[in-house]
Amino acid sequence: MDTAPASTPPETDPTAVPCVAMEGPVLVFGGPYSNLEATQALRAEAARLGIAAGNIVCTGDVVAYCADPVATVAEIRDWGVHVVMGNCEESLGWSREDCGCGFEEGTECAALSVDWYSHADRRLGEDDRRWMRGLPRRLDIAVGGRRLAAIHGAVDGINRFVFASTPWDDKAAQIAATGCDGVIAGHSGLPFVQEQDGLLWLNSGALGMPANDGTRRVWYALIVPEDSGALDVRLLALDYDADAAAAKMRAHGLPAGYADALGSGLWPSCDVLPPRELADRGRERGEQALRWRARRAA
Ligand SMILES: [Fe+2]
Repeated sequence: MDTAPASTPPETDPTAVPCVAMEGPVLVFGGPYSNLEATQALRAEAARLGIAAGNIVCTGDVVAYCADPVATVAEIRDWGVHVVMGNCEESLGWSREDCGCGFEEGTECAALSVDWYSHADRRLGEDDRRWMRGLPRRLDIAVGGRRLAAIHGAVDGINRFVFASTPWDDKAAQIAATGCDGVIAGHSGLPFVQEQDGLLWLNSGALGMPANDGTRRVWYALIVPEDSGALDVRLLALDYDADAAAAKMRAHGLPAGYADALGSGLWPSCDVLPPRELADRGRERGEQALRWRARRAA
């Protein structure tokens, strides 16, 4: 087996990071979380939109809370999209004892993670773990004259939570460390997009779990280059068969809180949320669009 590395920040030298040039719209999603039904629904939506796998980026955590770790990994691998390593891939790839989500000991999140992690750990085979170990911790994409660093949690830590309420100075420093024009991140499970001084931070939300907004919808993002040189960045909601996904979780004896969340749209625990995100719990989100103009074009 490969030697397990410490959980280190992604490479910050842009010349050492793989960079994929993409023409046309780019689709971004995070956290499939073993939710096969949601993954298949997004794959169908991408096909409907005419977006090929080479223009699609997943920010990691293919496996987590839901019932189908093996089938979801198979779906993602068969689809052929770009995938960045999440903390769940890091933990399962090297057969660690827990999910590495960064939950504090003794919290409800930590307690709930024990069951789904062991469910996944018992089922995944060596070939899938090897695939997980081989995923990049950072993947840059070049689109519309901009370069974006796709990572999992934060630039300086795979399992660090970055939310909309996280101070912009923190995000700006992380973007600067990448040498890119913006960052595409996941991990925190809540969609948001912010632009300041020509720099972008995008979190597409999670595909496998609703956004704690009281609806069962899950989220993804599109980045669409425009003729003007601007990029149209959209946060979009997706409906899928949440009842089927929840029924399988219950049949496998997975934590009821997460199975219920697929239908209620409310997370069973909010330990990780800052006050602003906590205050938004149960408040229905709207889809969002942001026009990102080039830093030097202003
Ligand atoms: Fe994560």
